[in-house]
Amino acid sequence: MTNGAAVYQRLFDVRDSRVVVTGAASGLGFAMAEVLAECGARVTLADVDRERLESSTAALADLGLEARSVVVDVADEASVRALVEDVVAAEGGLDVVFANAGIASRPGFAVEGGQRLDTVDRADWDSVLGVNLNGVLHTLKHASAVMRRQGSGRIVVTSSNAGLRPEPEVCYGYVASKAAVINVVRQAALELAPHGVLVNAICPGPFKGTRIGGGVTEDPTPELEQMWARTVPLRRMADPDELKGLVLLLASPASSFMTGAAYLVDGGTLVLAGGA
Ligand SMILES: NC(=O)c1ccc[n+]([C@@H]2O[C@H](COP(=O)([O-])OP(=O)(O)OC[C@H]3O[C@@H](n4cnc5c(N)ncnc54)[C@H](O)[C@@H]3O)[C@@H](O)[C@H]2O)c1
Repeated sequence: MTNGAAVYQRLFDVRDSRVVVTGAASGLGFAMAEVLAECGARVTLADVDRERLESSTAALADLGLEARSVVVDVADEASVRALVEDVVAAEGGLDVVFANAGIASRPGFAVEGGQRLDTVDRADWDSVLGVNLNGVLHTLKHASAVMRRQGSGRIVVTSSNAGLRPEPEVCYGYVASKAAVINVVRQAALELAPHGVLVNAICPGPFKGTRIGGGVTEDPTPELEQMWARTVPLRRMADPDELKGLVLLLASPASSFMTGAAYLVDGGTLVLAGGA
């Protein structure tokens, strides 16, 4: 007679895994940190927003969960190197990294009619690519150096379904960066496979409870929610908790043969768009 609980536990066991989540102070990154800490991982929350990072880490402590925090600016390679060195010094290694920090370019999500090319501002474009693309490169580079030496590790990059098809409601820098990281993930997965390091991307659809749209997605108005819901076959925006199953899967032994892929959590949006 199989003990089902023991099987689940073995498949999804992340206890004592040394995890870093960037962009963990808010939204999807906080949900990632929370579920992994709840499941017994040793989580370091990393974010550029010091104040929010402190309050989010304290919120986990209030739940009786242990978590560390490190301030990082992923756009700055030296800052990411220091983050990885900090975690390795404190934890003795690095098993799982979620390269999740991201920003949307002005004017943010839900641009009525979409952004026009003649409104693309180069400084804005550069700042979005600096976080969403260069930040992923820095995180992959420094995390993989440790994992390669260990002969094991997992890196999960947060892309978007806006990386798989045009999405006029967000801006050019955003769709460019989110598409680019998917191919960077594929190439890194090829390079790192012989070293036992798995690299994947996740592609969320519209989630509320997040601050990326300059606040509009944190607690969206009914009109905004309806606008997004129309693009989703499930007819609603998602809650950050709905990402937790995939996060646990990609951090745990259950995903041991999964690398180089981009996983959608989008309520069927890409099917509707003809792009899945
Ligand atoms: N919310 C959605 O619907 C949605 C959909 C698809 C993809 N995403 C992606 O999910 C990821 C998380 O975003 P979110 O929606 O939770 O937004 P969020 O704004 O709630 O969280 C993003 C976090 O990243 C941090 N951050 C920003 N720049 C940083 C930097 N330079 N260095 C370190 N941290 C930095 C922010 O301070 C914030 O805490 C992003 O990559 C985003 O593009 C979000």
